[in-house]
Amino acid sequence: MLSEGQDTYGVLGDEAETFMFDDIGVIFFAATNTTQVSVNNALKYLYMDKYADVRKKLVQEVDSNLPFSVWDAQGNEVNHDKLYASCNYENIHEGYDYAMMTFNESLRIEPPLGFSTAHTVTRDVTLARGTAKELKINAGEEIHIMIGLLHHDPAQWGNRHDEFIPERFDSKSEYFSKPGGKHRHPYSFAPFLGGHRVCLGKTMAEIQAKAMLVMITKCYELEHLDSELKTKTRAYELFQMQLPSLRYRFKKRI
Ligand code: HEM
Repeated sequence: MLSEGQDTYGVLGDEAETFMFDDIGVIFFAATNTTQVSVNNALKYLYMDKYADVRKKLVQEVDSNLPFSVWDAQGNEVNHDKLYASCNYENIHEGYDYAMMTFNESLRIEPPLGFSTAHTVTRDVTLARGTAKELKINAGEEIHIMIGLLHHDPAQWGNRHDEFIPERFDSKSEYFSKPGGKHRHPYSFAPFLGGHRVCLGKTMAEIQAKAMLVMITKCYELEHLDSELKTKTRAYELFQMQLPSLRYRFKKRI
């Protein structure tokens, strides 16, 4: 990348090089932990006992899109090329609605970034004007957006906001609306934030996560090795510097 830049723009100075390395570092950091945590979260909930129906629906969707075996009766891999060809960018991007709902629900229930970095407000604003929660923020002040709280607002998500229900993202489902039947606020779900500072890698993360969920579901049946996690979830530490230990038994789906 650096040498291509040099060809186009001439020799890069030390400062430009440092900026570029910094940017690459930020993108790498922003991309890896978040995607890793969110896919792990999806699996963590999917393989809890009480979400067997969610699992079943996901398996049905995956098997109907990939109607072939990945293992023969002896457990040897067959159809390796067919699996990878079927899970190409277009197929993953355009299909697998339920896998996407499952991923979205994992981003909702435990967003990898529970709160935003500091955002500087550029003009005076008043939030919740005329209500008991009215809040004035002046231009120049910094705010953090509490994504985790948005995702657990009972007014938007109901009293069962701690439950893993992918149908919340299905426009045909009763869970799609907020309590009382009205549409949810567009920012009640904002795992990638939005506006000018929306996550640069949103689409990439969605495709990667969907591809991983689809391929893992096609190939294996998982079981939590830590039996406590079959019934009770364990949240990630807020800054995710210390990932929890999640151990599974992978059984080939023969
Ligand atoms: C599930 C996965 C991901 C989640 C939940 C996520 C979430 C977010 C959020 C909430 C922000 C805004 C942070 C803020 O302003 O405080 C952000 C920014 C960013 N994300 Fe992601 N992200 C994910 C994956 C990725 C990937 C795969 C990449 C790169 C390939 C990426 C690159 C970035 C970059 C560069 C920014 C800074 C954008 C800016 O400030 O202009 N992210 N992400």
